[in-house]
Amino acid sequence: MSKPSPTNAPTRVGLIGFGCVGQGLYDILQRHPEAGFTVARIAVKNPTKLRPLPAERFEFHADDLLNDPTLDLLVEVIDDADEAFRLVSQALRQGRRVVTANKAMVARHLPELIALQRAFGGVLLYEAAVCGSIPVIRTIDSYFAQEPLVQVSGIFNGSSNYVLTRMREDHSDYAEALAEAQAQGFAETDPTLDMAAFDPRSKAVILAAHACGLLLDPDDVLNLGIENVSAADIRYAAERGQKLKVVASLQPLPGGGATVYVTPQLVDADSPLYAVEREFNGVVVEAEFAGQHFWRGRGAGGHPTGSAVLADLVALRHGFRYAYAKLPLEAPQAAEAPDLELEVYLRSAPAELRRALGLTDVSEQLSAPGFTYDYAVGYVRLGQLHRYRDALRAGGTFVARTGRVRPVVAQPAPQLETALAAS
Ligand code: HSE
Repeated sequence: MSKPSPTNAPTRVGLIGFGCVGQGLYDILQRHPEAGFTVARIAVKNPTKLRPLPAERFEFHADDLLNDPTLDLLVEVIDDADEAFRLVSQALRQGRRVVTANKAMVARHLPELIALQRAFGGVLLYEAAVCGSIPVIRTIDSYFAQEPLVQVSGIFNGSSNYVLTRMREDHSDYAEALAEAQAQGFAETDPTLDMAAFDPRSKAVILAAHACGLLLDPDDVLNLGIENVSAADIRYAAERGQKLKVVASLQPLPGGGATVYVTPQLVDADSPLYAVEREFNGVVVEAEFAGQHFWRGRGAGGHPTGSAVLADLVALRHGFRYAYAKLPLEAPQAAEAPDLELEVYLRSAPAELRRALGLTDVSEQLSAPGFTYDYAVGYVRLGQLHRYRDALRAGGTFVARTGRVRPVVAQPAPQLETALAAS
């Protein structure tokens, strides 16, 4: 571990939040005093909650930590994204150095967080926010600062990967597997964030800033998850020698901008993501000159996420800050990415929704009266999937990409209203 400051006085950390990540970090720092950090103050929200440290270690006004000049570094690891933004932006306005693990908050507010750092000289690091212990942000930001990236993709959510693994390996029921992921502390308080792929979407949005120089509104990025997955879908993949994984895909475009989406995907055995199981995350980076890199590691849990926070604390002590090298200082946002056609496996899509989506070039189809399992494989525009995302979720439809993508060749997309009228 890195040595403490030359004075040998430990670096004083103010810790805001003492949940899974806060406790993981605290434990790591206790086990390794030679790292030279001391958790000087801990602020939490709930005064009545039972905690594994004596009550006198805790206080209940996080703002007091922000206003304490004897704290060298601040760590924000609370659940509430709005309160996290209030605290972190306030700290940055004071020019402070802060570490956060809150992916939803960073994804939603990155433009303001970057502007605050530039205006007031503070620093914000958030390695723990994307794929836990995998050092993906710092590597993309620093090591690949100048080299163009061809593609970044990966499994960015441990809970949904855990559920898919349990369903395939042990024929577990979806609800039972989800309850296990929650019990093991991987899942978000609201499991929809994991299962409907809002969580990996936040991570993809954060990576897009570093990998593609693009500040995206999370709502502009398609996220489809596994809330509607069934044993039949798992079997469909297995019969073809594939596995279902929730895969985030970021493809920088030559003229600027990028295509970014997160959906289930049928993954072939020759993909490095095929072997990423249970709560593990995997990231594939393809760079113009370096070629393909692959990282697999723990993306959730107290110690792995605490490990990423520790790495950021050490980096802050060394004066590190993100370069955002691909993000022009004053540039307007890149033009909107052109629409694409994705080949998808579409199960249990009502006929009118299928027509509204404009499924074309159907290469496989199963539908018979009396059977509850019906599916089709064909091409759909990314824009249409995004437009009908909520209808797909609500209607019990399961969608998985096959991985084949092509430029838009079809006629203008049909409207749901027109399709419904025609049905
Ligand atoms: N709920 C998240 C996951 C935790 O399952 O990956 C880490 O961000």
